[in-house]
Amino acid sequence: MRFLVTGVKGQLGYDVVRELKSRGYNDVLEYDIEQMDITDARQVEQCIVGNEPDVVIHCAAYTAVDKAEDEPELAEKINVAGTKNIAEMTELIGCKLIYISTDYVFDGRQPLSYIYDVDDKVNPQSVYGKTKYKGELAAKINPRCFIVRTSWVFGINGNNFVKTMLKLAETKDEINVVSDQYGSPTYTVDLAKLLVDMSLTYKFGTYHASNEGYISWAQFAEEIFKVNNIDVKVNHISTKEYPTKARRPHNSCLSKISLTNNGFERLPDYKDALIRYSKELKEQKENEKKLILK
Ligand SMILES: NC(=O)c1ccc[n+]([C@@H]2O[C@H](COP(=O)([O-])OP(=O)(O)OC[C@H]3O[C@@H](n4cnc5c(N)ncnc54)[C@H](OP(=O)(O)O)[C@@H]3O)[C@@H](O)[C@H]2O)c1
Repeated sequence: MRFLVTGVKGQLGYDVVRELKSRGYNDVLEYDIEQMDITDARQVEQCIVGNEPDVVIHCAAYTAVDKAEDEPELAEKINVAGTKNIAEMTELIGCKLIYISTDYVFDGRQPLSYIYDVDDKVNPQSVYGKTKYKGELAAKINPRCFIVRTSWVFGINGNNFVKTMLKLAETKDEINVVSDQYGSPTYTVDLAKLLVDMSLTYKFGTYHASNEGYISWAQFAEEIFKVNNIDVKVNHISTKEYPTKARRPHNSCLSKISLTNNGFERLPDYKDALIRYSKELKEQKENEKKLILK
C-alpha cells in the first residue's frame, strides 16, 4: 500500500510518517512544500497522478491563525485552492483522501454544556476557520474522503502551546492565561494512529478527533506545569484581557461520537497524552545534549 503525506515538516505530518513506518508501511511519499507545493496544480498532478498513492493524508496547511487575518489571500490559496488541487487529483486516480480540519469551523457561542457534533451548523469567525471550512468543501470533490476536525494540536516537531508555556516558565514565575476558551488538546502521536486506522477503512465522512477531556487554556497550562514539576502560578484571565487579531471560539468542545459509532478507537485522555509528550520532549533534550557533547 502506498501512502502520500503532505506537511511532513509540520507537527502532525511528521508523526503520521512515524506511525506509518512503525507499522511497517515503508512505501511512504513524504512531501512538504519543497517536494510538492500544494498550490501548484501541475506539481500536484505530477506527484499524485505520477506516483498513484492509495491514500493521501493531507496535513499541509496555512496554520498561523492570527497572521491569516492579514494574509487572507495566502491562507485561501493554501487551505482552499491547495486542497482542491489534491482532491481533484486523488479523485482522478481513485485514491482515498484524509483532510485535517479544525474546531475553528464553529463559532463556539453555545454554552459550555453543549458539545459540537459533526453535523452542527458551522460558522467560522476567523480567516483561518473560513479557509479550513472551504477546504472541507473542496476535499469533498473526492467521494473517498475523510474529514477529521481536531483542536489544540501539540507534537514534537513544531511550536505549540505546551512548548510556549515551558519556555515562558524558564523566565517567569507567574503567567496570565485565558480561562474562558474551552476545548480539548490533541497529541499528534495519538491523532496519527487514528488517521492510519481510518485510512485502512472505507468509512468515509466527517469526524471529530481530539484527546478526551474538556478544559480551558488556563487549566491546560496548570496541568503542563504539574506534569513537569514546575512551580509557576497561572493567573486566569478573560479573552477580553488578551485580545488577538483572530476571533476564537469560547466553546470548542467537540463530540467524538462519530468515532465510536464507526468503530474507531477514541484518543486517550489529554492528561495521559501530556505525560507521554513531556517524556518525549525530555528525551529529545537529552539526545540534543549528547550530540553537543560528542
Ligand atoms: N496546530 C493546531 O493547533 C491545529 C488545530 C486544529 C487543526 N489543525 C490542522 O491540523 C493540520 C496539521 O497542523 P500542524 O499543526 O501539523 O501544522 P504545521 O505544523 O503548521 O504544518 C503544516 C505544514 O504544511 C506546510 N505547508 C504550508 N504551505 C504549504 C504548501 N503550499 N505546500 C506544501 N506544504 C505547505 C508548512 O510549511 P511551512 O512551515 O514552511 O509553512 C508546514 O510544514 C492542519 O490541517 C491544521 O489546519 C491544527
